[in-house]
Amino acid sequence: MNILVTGGTGFIGSHTIVELQQAGHTAVAYDNLCNSSTVVLDRIEGITGKPVEFVEGDIRDQEKLTKTLKDFDIDCVIHFAGLKAVGESVHKPIEYYDNNVGGTVKLLAAMRDAGVNSIIFSSSATVYGEPTKLPLTEDMPKGQATNPYGRTKGIIEDILSDTQFAYPQMNVVLLRYFNPIGAHPSGTMGEDPTGIPNNLMPYVTQVAIGKLKELGVFGNDYDTPDGTCIRDYIHVMDLASGHVAALKALKPEGGLSIYNLGTGRGTSVLELVNAFMKATGVNVPYSIKPRREGDVVACYADCSKAKEELGWEAKYGIEQMCADSWNWQQKNPNGYRDQA
Ligand code: NAD
Ligand code: UD1
Repeated sequence: MNILVTGGTGFIGSHTIVELQQAGHTAVAYDNLCNSSTVVLDRIEGITGKPVEFVEGDIRDQEKLTKTLKDFDIDCVIHFAGLKAVGESVHKPIEYYDNNVGGTVKLLAAMRDAGVNSIIFSSSATVYGEPTKLPLTEDMPKGQATNPYGRTKGIIEDILSDTQFAYPQMNVVLLRYFNPIGAHPSGTMGEDPTGIPNNLMPYVTQVAIGKLKELGVFGNDYDTPDGTCIRDYIHVMDLASGHVAALKALKPEGGLSIYNLGTGRGTSVLELVNAFMKATGVNVPYSIKPRREGDVVACYADCSKAKEELGWEAKYGIEQMCADSWNWQQKNPNGYRDQA
């Protein structure tokens, strides 16, 4: 199939393109490069041996999107493009709603105009809010997001559901990611956050390499076995293969499907730090800091629906995630920046 990958030069999009190409699909990356670099396109080609078509463009540019969808005879869109910094979204809600929500509306209009009926969307476990029951299943009601970024995900899910209802021939797949970490095992592709990382794993790898002094563990007085928060970390390559599985399962008659993509296993902050030190042999100094506002105590997925309906399940464990994140960090201490 011909796939338009919005946000295709970003962290998850780029790893997904590797899996798409290796499964025999043709991927066209569409990105405005606001949080990524074209260096990754060479890295993808280095792994798969296949060049990646790239269109530099914004998802709010409906005309350019429509033209791209037609020019490349696109069968399905995988929609990763969006702004994702939780803290920033609190201070820049207009930019977040414009980019994520407004951009998705333009994308849907372009798809309608170009006659493209299938879309797979990057949603997040954040739409569940504070879990009332664990593990989380897709039929649980959505909860209160704690920030504008999280709310954009819930709103976009609603927009996509309404659109599928109005155009029943459309295929809409909402993939709710848990916590993606890790990197391509080659060490040539990985996560490249700008500035000081907000998320746990990139912070850990930057402490390990000496760029940051110590990790702050946000709270050790939660109601969990070691007092730190629990998350469902998933290797980015598993997440990438989840998209290929979702493509394969698109229904010719159209429909709306929702899947959790996680491992189903919860890992606490301290367990992750210890697993990292064990997998890499590198010490990660840390100290306990106050709780971070908006954090949920524990969040992990029931992934049986994806297993039954997509034939997909995560293969990699936490040790591999740590080893691959570290391999990437060591080989690219400044991410893609030195090589642009
Ligand atoms: P990323 O920032 O690495 O990738 C997003 C890409 O989208 C970037 O390359 C950026 O340049 C591009 N982009 C942003 N706005 C755009 C626009 N208006 N037009 C064109 N391109 C634009 O982020 P990621 O971690 O790869 O996340 C991909 C998607 O998955 C996002 O929608 C994110 O919200 C979602 N998600 C990520 C996580 C996570 O932990 N990384 C968890 C759940 C959901
Ligand atoms: C966060 C976002 C979520 C987003 C996801 C991926 C919040 C409240 N949630 O999820 O909306 O989809 O990132 O971008 O920001 N931790 C530390 N020290 C650190 C960093 C993190 O102890 O320096 C802890 C956190 O308190 C949390 C765990 O590590 O318990 C995981 O944090 P993080 O990687 O930011 O992911 P989430 O909070 O799950």
